[in-house]
Amino acid sequence: MSKRESLEEVSVDETVRQQEIIKQLSLIFKGKGLKYFIQTFGCQMNAHDSEKLEGMLKQIGYEKADKEKEADFIIYNTCCVRENAEQKVYGKLGYLKTLKEKNKNLIIAICGCMMQQESVLKTIKTKYNHVDIIFGTFNLYKMPELFQTYLETREMIIDIWKEHKDIVEDLPSIRKYKFKASVNIMYGCNNFCTYCIVPYVRGRERSREVDDILNEIKDLVNDGVKEVMLLGQNVNSYGKTLKDKTTFSELLRKVNEIEGLKRIRFMTSHPKDLSDELIKTIKECDKVCKSLHLPFQAGSTKILEKMNRKYSKEQYLELATKIQKEIPDITLTTDIIVGFPGETEQDFEDTLDIVRKIRFNGAFTFLYSKRTGTPAATMEEQVDEKIATKRFNKLQEVLIPIITEKNKAMLGKKVEILVEGRSKNHKEFLTGRTEGGHLVHFKGDSSLVGEFVNVEIIEPKTFYLIGKIC
Ligand code: SAH
Ligand code: SF4
Ligand code: F3S
Repeated sequence: MSKRESLEEVSVDETVRQQEIIKQLSLIFKGKGLKYFIQTFGCQMNAHDSEKLEGMLKQIGYEKADKEKEADFIIYNTCCVRENAEQKVYGKLGYLKTLKEKNKNLIIAICGCMMQQESVLKTIKTKYNHVDIIFGTFNLYKMPELFQTYLETREMIIDIWKEHKDIVEDLPSIRKYKFKASVNIMYGCNNFCTYCIVPYVRGRERSREVDDILNEIKDLVNDGVKEVMLLGQNVNSYGKTLKDKTTFSELLRKVNEIEGLKRIRFMTSHPKDLSDELIKTIKECDKVCKSLHLPFQAGSTKILEKMNRKYSKEQYLELATKIQKEIPDITLTTDIIVGFPGETEQDFEDTLDIVRKIRFNGAFTFLYSKRTGTPAATMEEQVDEKIATKRFNKLQEVLIPIITEKNKAMLGKKVEILVEGRSKNHKEFLTGRTEGGHLVHFKGDSSLVGEFVNVEIIEPKTFYLIGKIC
């Protein structure tokens, strides 16, 4: 019987088991001055997973390093949503080879969405065999055990699961900010948009129990958290896998009651099942930020159908207009893909039409990237790269003046912001976010970090605002 099987028989509680291993490892590693470096690629889900990895490594006895060069344990938490995300990881892995040649004791682990693809595993095994530990999205919590097995064998350890088993609660976690935190409310995705790899690498949709979520948030608030971001690939379908079928609106109302919590954000919302009840909830709950990320992906109904998005151009316009009417101060942002297979000039005009009509406060724009294994990858009429790039540039030309104008309307407004830290580029400025998610830079003392401050907007720019304390 393998070691893993016997362990699984001994204990059913995964968290307890990993904690036990962490304790054993800490006897070896604590106080040795060893350092870890984690780089995260991709979305907030991955960022949140990395916080859990950090929590475990800290408990084992590692301290944070600022660069790969200074680290004894390196983890890359990868993303595969677009090809360039994967290319970045391969580039980085090449660099690690030279580091490992200099430091034979360096431990290299890679995990995350990319690892759930067999072709990637093959490439790593053949071209990047200096990697020591490989795991996927479903068994992240097992990192301590995989590390322990590696120490015993000194051979490449690969543990990838095809799907999830349990939702493992209560892992140690290190937050980037003391005053704000992400909280997973659900995992996976059932939507299978035809361009998207996420359902294949993150598995089927499953929601966490309401009480587990509420307890986690209460603990966070007790620990100084003022703002939470509720995470899910499609939060609007929260609760469908639960026995009591609690809806996302109901969950939001419960979170809104948590004493001491100031702001609630969430992402992402799929337009197909954004209910009137949710609009009402956003409007009525004082802690729920008046900001909504509502990806439309493409404007043409024909393309939306090919994307399997389950709404038409008219339905999206109707929904976004209704939200803007019901909640006039809402900040609306979106995701847009350009160059999906079969997209004609006329289809692209529909995308521009939505941008012009809805006048978003912000948008993430992407060139369609072919992902092997998704239905869109084998669709005929793949759009020529040059044409797609031309359309992409045109989209920026339409979007940027709208976003700039929207920001200009903020001039003279007094807003409350949660101060996040010093501005990266202008050290004399602090930086924070409004309820709507606008980034604001202003002069102030570092003691304000983590506090709510009232600021008057004095100079709106395209992607941020400059303010002064008022
Ligand atoms: N679940 C979220 C988004 C997850 S991925 C949602 O449905 O809104 C984030 C964004 O990446 C998507 O909204 C989409 O715009 C983009 N994206 C996903 N797959 C892509 C691909 N193959 N090519 C280009 N962009 C893609
Ligand atoms: Fe991907 Fe669509 Fe699921 Fe979002 S809803 S993660 S775009 S399949
Ligand atoms: Fe996120 Fe990328 Fe995975 S966007 S879910 S890290 S494929």
